Amino acid sequence: MNTSTILTGDRTTGPLHIGHYAGSLANRLRYQDSHEQFLLLADTQALTDNAHDPQKVQRNVIEVALDYLAVGIDPARSTICLQSHLPALAELSMLYLNFVTVARLERNPTIKDEIRARGFGRDIPAGFLCYPAAQAADITGFKATLVPVGEDQAPLIEQTNEIVRRINATAGQSVLPQAQAIIPKAGRLPGIDGKAKMSKSTGNAIPLSASPDDIRAAVRAMFTDPNHLRVQDPGRVEGNVVFTYLDAFDPDQNELAELKAQYQRGGLGDGKIKARLEAILQELIAPIRARRSQLSKDRGYVLEVIKDGTERAQTRTEATKRDVVSALGLFQL
Ligand code: TRP
Repeated sequence: MNTSTILTGDRTTGPLHIGHYAGSLANRLRYQDSHEQFLLLADTQALTDNAHDPQKVQRNVIEVALDYLAVGIDPARSTICLQSHLPALAELSMLYLNFVTVARLERNPTIKDEIRARGFGRDIPAGFLCYPAAQAADITGFKATLVPVGEDQAPLIEQTNEIVRRINATAGQSVLPQAQAIIPKAGRLPGIDGKAKMSKSTGNAIPLSASPDDIRAAVRAMFTDPNHLRVQDPGRVEGNVVFTYLDAFDPDQNELAELKAQYQRGGLGDGKIKARLEAILQELIAPIRARRSQLSKDRGYVLEVIKDGTERAQTRTEATKRDVVSALGLFQL
């Protein structure tokens, strides 16, 4: 067993999709055999941009947990835990807010992008602006050193490490470890329409619970090369969503390279490459969907998994909080 600890999480705002799978779920599955791993159901963070709809955040706790279990996260090897029930993380967040400036939070590229995407303008919820400090608490609360995430999250890990260095400098000892992001080489999967971000709300995502018909319809509607009108025409591979998805999911990358060459030369129709992708996605999602539907009938079991994991995580994060308080020399009664 490797001695480094993995922590990662997802906002509980909706069921997960194949972008999450390619972005970090596949990595989490890979690491659960060799590393201690914690998966955080980030309901508190989900509230930072969903305070108007707490019901949605609440409902999706179970949905995301179901997705974890359905893809093959094994609660005996990975600890699934609930952020809102880990008070030590909230306490560490408050503490960390003193080790970061508002200007630095505003400069965080992820935060900047998200503020723009959500159209907050000047009306940024304070909790939202500050969530990088909370995410630093998530990561360091477990003393995690590896964080499997999509590439959009890299600036958050960087900011976490800045906070860690400040705290260690103030404490005069290395009380918290720095963390490293594990980011898939393929980059972020675009939506089926070719837009940079796949998200349930814009309807351009393929959820892990998609039915065979949903999958077929999504692949049919997928953006390819608008100038590739006839089979014999040369086609573009860059920006062609079908090829981007094949890059991420096709088990035979050699054959894929040949298909790309043929497509670029001309003589390969969109129907062919879509059929190939559809077959791959049907095969990937079928067992996930089956397990998900089985598990969703046993809500009690899913709740047990979350309760169990949260208890283990409480012990772990309380210990870290005590370490930090004592290293900083704060008052202890
Ligand atoms: N910010 C992540 C997302 O948007 C969720 C998350 C919360 C997270 N806490 C984390 C990811 C800690 C990695 C580590 O999905």
